[in-house]
Amino acid sequence: MLYPLSYEGRIAPSLGVPRPSSAQTGQLRRDTRSTGAEVFAIAQSSGPTDDGPSIRPEDSLRLIRRLGWYPMIRQLEPGDAASCDAIVAGLPEWFGDETGIRDCAEAVRAQSGLVADDAGEVVGFCTYELRPPGSAEITWMAVRADRHRIGIGTAIIDALVGRLATQGTRLLLVKTLSDRNGPYLAYDQTRRFYLKMGFLRVAELDIWGPDDPALLLAKPLQA
Ligand SMILES: CC(C)(COP(=O)(O)OP(=O)(O)OC[C@H]1O[C@@H](n2cnc3c(N)ncnc32)[C@H](O)[C@@H]1OP(=O)(O)O)[C@@H](O)C(=O)NCCC(=O)NCCS
Repeated sequence: MLYPLSYEGRIAPSLGVPRPSSAQTGQLRRDTRSTGAEVFAIAQSSGPTDDGPSIRPEDSLRLIRRLGWYPMIRQLEPGDAASCDAIVAGLPEWFGDETGIRDCAEAVRAQSGLVADDAGEVVGFCTYELRPPGSAEITWMAVRADRHRIGIGTAIIDALVGRLATQGTRLLLVKTLSDRNGPYLAYDQTRRFYLKMGFLRVAELDIWGPDDPALLLAKPLQA
């Protein structure tokens, strides 16, 4: 099942990057839809913008969103498992623990989930479990390292929320590493992401041992 998403409402005004040039937008395929890789190449190509002479390299990912690419979100299928494993293998700062890697590999083969699909390439995924009555929990989530911060995680959460809310789920839970033992950049970014997605801090949990305090977050879902 496909979940096409439109990002019209959240593109452009808040991105703070120059307007792409008409030459850049002209390279986008309108008939089918440019793939993420194609939009990457266009965004990172040099050339003046409509607002000024150039795009700073650090803004090129944001420009991708401004150029209008968004991922297709669909249900996780058995054939996606190896791609999910590869995404996890590319994120050693988050997935450094062998048990975690193995548990995630089991989850993408056994649990429900969604993937972000860029022209047949899986670039992000989440798995989840229902916790009746009324709750569900994201068990694993990751976006491919070279595609962070262009809205793929947001698209996955939006699609998951839409799917769960229509099925009667009222609360979406997720556990991640707490900052109780001090800052760690990788998981600082993860917590920022979930807070931006509307999750609220609920509790610190001692379930993963003293070195890995857990933070439980929850997001209320609209009926
Ligand atoms: C966390 C993760 C899933 C987010 O996916 P993503 O596609 O990169 O996130 P998005 O582009 O949708 O970001 C949405 C918002 O989250 C926040 N955010 C995301 N990454 C951030 C970062 N590195 N630093 C600060 N804020 C960040 C921002 O507010 C961002 O909005 P903005 O770009 O308009 O400012 C992804 O970074 C990832 O795979 N991380 C490694 C694995 C992981 O942490 N999994 C979850 C374990 S519980």
